[in-house]
Amino acid sequence: MSKKEYTVGFEIIGTGKAVPPKRVTNDELAKTLDTNDEWIRSHTGIGARHIADDHIACSDLAVEAARNALSWAIERQACAEKTIEELALTVDMVIVGSSTTDYFCCPATACIVQNAIGAKNAGAMDVVNACSSFIYGLETGAGLLSVSNDRRRALVIGAEVLSRFVDWTDRGTCVLFGDGAGAVLLEKTNSPRGISRTILGADGSGAGDLIMKQGGSRYPFKKGDTVVTPPHMEMNGRAVYNFAVGAVTETITTLLKAENLAIEDVALIVPHQANARIVQAAAKRLNVPEGRFFLNIEEYANTSSASIPIALDELNRSGALRTGDLILCVAFGAGLTYGGSLIRW
Ligand code: ACO
Repeated sequence: MSKKEYTVGFEIIGTGKAVPPKRVTNDELAKTLDTNDEWIRSHTGIGARHIADDHIACSDLAVEAARNALSWAIERQACAEKTIEELALTVDMVIVGSSTTDYFCCPATACIVQNAIGAKNAGAMDVVNACSSFIYGLETGAGLLSVSNDRRRALVIGAEVLSRFVDWTDRGTCVLFGDGAGAVLLEKTNSPRGISRTILGADGSGAGDLIMKQGGSRYPFKKGDTVVTPPHMEMNGRAVYNFAVGAVTETITTLLKAENLAIEDVALIVPHQANARIVQAAAKRLNVPEGRFFLNIEEYANTSSASIPIALDELNRSGALRTGDLILCVAFGAGLTYGGSLIRW
């Protein structure tokens, strides 16, 4: 078993996910957009995406995923509490990773979630760091638990409604994204299981490569403005692709080296689900079989900060993860940012 970076352990005792019921296939998109299933599948691996109806906001998905994570911990008797309400009262921090929060500046979406699940004793904050938000949130959660004896549990959620922030006339971006949320309940323990190391990084020189310009203090909305296109993601796809392949490769290599591990020690790599071709290229560079990477992008497309916790929940509930398995989560996104976590399940 690998050496742990932290002096205490952070075990994931519950996972949950939520996706909106409306499922839109590539063929359905092709009815209103100059695209086709063959192009999207061959360039990205995406077959469908789940899209939130107008009444569903980021926190709605986050709350559902959070409740599912709490309920899993109770079902598996990973905690003494018997109801979601009781368990929610023991949560010390609610962290929501998202770039498509309920409100533009405030309040934090985590506060909406904290209230909705009845986590009355918890602090709440958002981590707004695009597709890397969940890994940044995980490290924030572990850090906040480790610095105080009074904190024991943190809910870390990745939740996005990206469909509301894409230009639905731009076939180069809109086909890539989907909506959803995933959550984990982190508990401070003395167990050798849990997060053993996380690395975080950024290269702000690529800030313009993936950007939502309108509405911030750089390009504020002004009285009298006519909205031609609602705020939306603009992307230099090639630049992001190149960055992503390098970030995935280097993050995996650095994490393994820091823990004195070989790639063979890792049961499964859980990458951010942005494009299957990014994973294929990274697998080739690392000389690792593609099958060692978990992919569910075909069903959900790119759900940004939600993609890794959704994947963790699917793996957990399907029984694919055995106790003691070492898994490596790796994310990258706008910023440009990246990060990875080694987790002993
Ligand atoms: N359907 C049909 N044709 C399309 C589509 C589409 N949906 N989108 C683009 N095309 C066309 C283009 O117009 C272009 O046509 P042309 O040659 O006649 O000009 C052709 O396909 C090639 O376009 P490229 O943009 O060069 O295609 P590329 O092979 O680079 O693939 C892609 C584009 C999939 C976006 C790729 O660059 C990529 O995956 N980049 C990384 C994107 C990413 O991961 N973003 C998110 C990461 S961070 C986060 O998750 C927020």
